[in-house]
Amino acid sequence: MTTRVLEARQAAHGYRVRVGDGALAALADLVAGHDQVALVSCRTVLGTPFGQRAEGAVRRASRSVLLHLLPDGERGKTLAHLEGAAGHLLRAGATRRSLVVALGGGAVTDAAGFLAAVFMRGVEWVAVPTTLLAMVDAALGGKTGVNLPLAKNAIGAFHPPVAVLADPASLRTLPQRETRSGFGELVKYAALRPALLPRVAAAARAGRADATLIAECARIKLEIVASDPQERGERKLLNLGHTFGHGVEAAGAFRRYAHGEAVAIGLAFAFRLARAMGRVDARSVAAVESALAGS
Ligand code: GLY
Repeated sequence: MTTRVLEARQAAHGYRVRVGDGALAALADLVAGHDQVALVSCRTVLGTPFGQRAEGAVRRASRSVLLHLLPDGERGKTLAHLEGAAGHLLRAGATRRSLVVALGGGAVTDAAGFLAAVFMRGVEWVAVPTTLLAMVDAALGGKTGVNLPLAKNAIGAFHPPVAVLADPASLRTLPQRETRSGFGELVKYAALRPALLPRVAAAARAGRADATLIAECARIKLEIVASDPQERGERKLLNLGHTFGHGVEAAGAFRRYAHGEAVAIGLAFAFRLARAMGRVDARSVAAVESALAGS
């Protein structure tokens, strides 16, 4: 059982990203020293074998655990649910020394991270991503937030976690559609680092990303974030395919397409546009589209 440990840095803040079977074991030490743990998740994740294991690990590590469930997916990423969660924490006696543990996919991670950013002006949080997409993107880099009816992620904060525990055991029960959605983000990294394209394309065809590939994609993101934590320049690269992708999500009323699916379509649009503008060659477009076709 190998767990890869990546060192993340965002300005003065450093944290570790553990990727691999057994990453969850680090939770006990992280919980120590906190008055209370607010475990934020959703019913679907909590009902999986990994969700049960994670909840058990939190309960063994802390005498005071508050469980807060958000609605699945983007439905839970609203100001109303943020208010509900904050009220729940307050009533349960959470303090500034409480720890938020986000257990779930991209939407739970974004919403729970934002709760941690604003509850009592900021508490520490740990991300336990349970989807491929959250492992390689949402849980890394500290972008947290909720949606407004007008726009996705319209309200948020940069608030990096104190640790990320990405345990691929959670991917074993991930619905195929969620796995494919995660590949949208993996192909994005491969488009940014073309040497990775053959491996990402092969993994997409197999419908499975192993811990080594997840860690490699995470490392790419962490390097970019370290050089530009607040997205003033280089970090914008991580939005490759997302401008078109957000348009695709909006066209589907944010229900028809999963985020990673929209990013995949957005990548194809972006590369075709770049080709039309003479910025990339036809082979690059073909390579990206072939990797996307496999996912
Ligand atoms: N999801 C893009 C970023 O974190 O910058």
